[in-house]
Parts: sequence; structure tokens; C-alpha cells
Amino acid sequence: MGVRRDSFGGIFLVGLIFGFAEISNGGITSSYVRNDDLSLDMPLDSDVFRVPPGYNAPQQVHITQGDHEGKGVIVSWVTPDEPGSKTVLYWAENSELKNVAEGFILKYKYFNYTSGYIHHCTIKDLEFDTKYYYEVGVGNTTRQFWFITPPRPGPDVPYTFGLIGDLGQTHDSNRTVTHYELNPTKGQTLLFVGDLSYADDYPFHDNSRWDTWGRFIERSAAYQPWIWTAGNHEIDFVPEIGESKPFKPYTHRYHVPYRASGSTSPMWYSIKRASAYIIVLSSYSAYGKYTPQYKWLEKELPKVNRTETPWLIVLMHCPMYNSYAHHYMEGETMRVMYEPWFVEFKVDVVFAGHVHAYERSERISNIAYNIVNGLCTPIRDQSAPIYITIGDGGNLEGLVTSMTEPQPSYSAFREPSFGHGILDIKNRTHAYFGWHRNQDGYAVEADSVWLHNRYWNPHEGFIRGCVMKRSDSMSLEGACKVHSEYLRSLLQIIQNLV
Ligand SMILES: [Fe+2]
Repeated sequence: MGVRRDSFGGIFLVGLIFGFAEISNGGITSSYVRNDDLSLDMPLDSDVFRVPPGYNAPQQVHITQGDHEGKGVIVSWVTPDEPGSKTVLYWAENSELKNVAEGFILKYKYFNYTSGYIHHCTIKDLEFDTKYYYEVGVGNTTRQFWFITPPRPGPDVPYTFGLIGDLGQTHDSNRTVTHYELNPTKGQTLLFVGDLSYADDYPFHDNSRWDTWGRFIERSAAYQPWIWTAGNHEIDFVPEIGESKPFKPYTHRYHVPYRASGSTSPMWYSIKRASAYIIVLSSYSAYGKYTPQYKWLEKELPKVNRTETPWLIVLMHCPMYNSYAHHYMEGETMRVMYEPWFVEFKVDVVFAGHVHAYERSERISNIAYNIVNGLCTPIRDQSAPIYITIGDGGNLEGLVTSMTEPQPSYSAFREPSFGHGILDIKNRTHAYFGWHRNQDGYAVEADSVWLHNRYWNPHEGFIRGCVMKRSDSMSLEGACKVHSEYLRSLLQIIQNLV
């Protein structure tokens, strides 16, 4: 009997080991076959770059959130010939009352380029969940647009975010924006994870490419906020041509409400929007211990009230988990600094760009390592975020196809195709993320996952994470079935042997 018990225990242990080996295999490397030729920039006379008609007509109109909770909007635009009017006229739909907000104007020089007149105007104290029309410009060059303010922050407010990164201005970039616009799950606000115009890929960082990019995205960014994250293509640091101030074009052109979250720099900040709390970080600003960004984030994370905004989302440019060969481990230093906080404060999802492909991680962390203990492999961790790389906007540098092999266990799904994401928050417990590749129909998802909120719904995710190879792409019922089938077959083996 003693032998039998030992055998039983040994077999059971072996069974468990095999079971977990199966569970800890890498996820899916998509076999989708695409044309990965380098995409060309759209010609300068393309309609997407069209200069609006009329002398000094406002162009490159774009909006972003203008305060911490969603009652403010920053309206930005460029007038090419002279300063023109600094004001924005705005009014609520169905209201006769027209309001005026006063902005200010910036200009900058970059090597042999001189910018137009860059306007920024913050509209404050808007009503939540209201459609507003707004006008910029004067006389017959006045241009009218509209936006809808988000609902008041609250735990069960549904809201839909789009995700785009590394966009550029190629034919593929245009396909990405078109697919985002025509996605039947309408994104209400776009979270942009860095690398905007790719102007720095042109001779002397041709800043006129910042202008063409601004005109290209206007058709979306003038009507819904684009939430900005800085990428490496925003650094524009070229001391050889006298340009030694990093982020000069980006910070002149794209303003964010950083002071409203107590930040001292536009490179990192936070906003509340509906049921989400969004923290934007800068991969290219100092983030080590004692730096301003570190000290800000240290104070910021404990402030997040998950009863008001259950969904804690972090945006950064350089991914912390990336199994492609390109940019492999570039995010490692920031991961070492900030991953323990992401786990401690139960961040739901981290979106990044930089790698020109798509990848979704399992819920994993790698925070136990202390040099001498050797615990340097990511492990399943239900307090950890899911990491999603969405740097597949479609720029002139092309796709990244080379991957580390075999696919690491932390990588749930990876595919090098251009596309965009949609994060559809349903309530405090559930959100749905879908990834849409540009070659598919507008409603098609090439990858999707139900997100279970880490603060309000961590237990369900734990059960699923324990029993499934790809825990988040199957229903709970499906997961339980897999688990019970696994145990049943294990029991059968044991009975046969005993
Ligand atoms: Fe990048």
C-alpha cells in the first residue's frame, strides 16, 4: 500500500507538472500572411493633406482633454500666414448661448523651418455628456467642428477608447485611421501611445511633416480628444544642426492638461474620463528614483479612487513586455522601476507602442528578482496588468516581423500587422478589448479579450488564469470545462495505474 501511495503521489505530482508545463507554454503567434512591403508616404498632394481654402484658414485642428475630470477641452490649431483670432466660439447643442474662450499663440523655429502660428485655447467648465459645437478662424475662413464631453466620472459608466500608436503618414496610416473611424464599436476618445508624425525620419527633421500630419489627423482629432503620449520620434534632438532642446516641436504643437494632475511636465500626467483613470508616462524622460516623474507617480497611484474610476490604465511608448526582436528589452529599466507599483496598485492594462506590431501579454509580473535569488522569470500574477503593444499604426519604417523564439510564456498573442485597438468599458467589472487589423472588414477582430477589473473582479480572473492556457479568450464556463476535463483524464490515468 505504501508503495502504491508513493506511486500515486509521484504520478499525481508528475501529472501536475505536465499540466502546468502545458499551461505555461507560450501563447499564439498568428499565422496570418500579409504583404509586409514597406509602405510609402502618401503624396503631398493627397486630399488628406489638403490645406483648407481661404487666406490664413485654421488648419491642423485637434482637441484633447483640458482638465482632470473631463469638463475641459484644449482646442489647438495653426494659422499659416498671420496670428489671426485667438478665440474659440462654442455652444452646446440646442442652446442659443454662444461662449467665447481666449487662447494664446506660440511659434517656434527648427533649423531652417519656421512654424505657423500655433494656437491653444482651453475651454473650461463644460457640462458632462453634452455635444458642443465650436468655431475657430474669422470671416469666411471660419471653420466649425463639434465634440461630445464624457459622462461624469463614475464606476459603471460605459465608455469606449480607441488605441493607436506609431501612426506616421503613409497609406497604411490612412488605412488605420479609416478603420478606426469606421469601426462599428465607435471609439469616443483616442488613446495615442506615441510616435506621431515621423518628421524626424526626413532630412533635417523636416518640420513641415508635422504640419502635414496635423492636417491628416484633423478629420478625427478635431471631433474627439486624442490623449497624447510622447514617443522617441517626438524627441527631435539634433545638436549638430543646433536643435538641442528635446521635444521642441511636440511640446509646441500638442498641449496636455498636466498641471491639473500635479505634474510638473507635459511628458507625464493623468486624466479621469468616465470610468477610467488614465496615467500617461514618458519613456524618454528621467524615471529613476528621485526624478520628478518617479516622485509624481509615487504620489499619483495611491490617489486613484477605484470606486469612482475602477479602470486604471497606463500609457507609455516603450513596452515593458515585448517578445519581438526589435526593441527587445528596451523597456526593461522602466519595468524594474515601476512594475512593482503596477502590481501593488492593480493596474488593469498597460498600453504601449514603439514596436511596429501587435502583442498581448498574459497577466504576469517579474518583481521577485533581487539579484541573488535567481527569480528572474515572469510568473502568472493576477494582480498584474495585461500589457498590450499597439505600435502598429502604419508608418514609413514598416512592420516588425522578427520575433524571439520560442514565444515566451508571458506572450498570449502576437502578430505583425497594422491596425488599431478598441477598449470598450462596460461597467466596473468588465471591459472588452479588440484588435482590428487593417486588412479585415471594419467589424472583424483579429484578437480580443475580456478584461476583468483588478479591483472589482479579481477572483474570476484568478480561477481562469489558473486553469487555462489562454485564460482570457474563453468564457468562465469554457475554462471550468477545460479544468474538469483535465482533472478527469488525470484521475483516469491514476486509476488505471493503481
Ligand atoms: Fe517608437
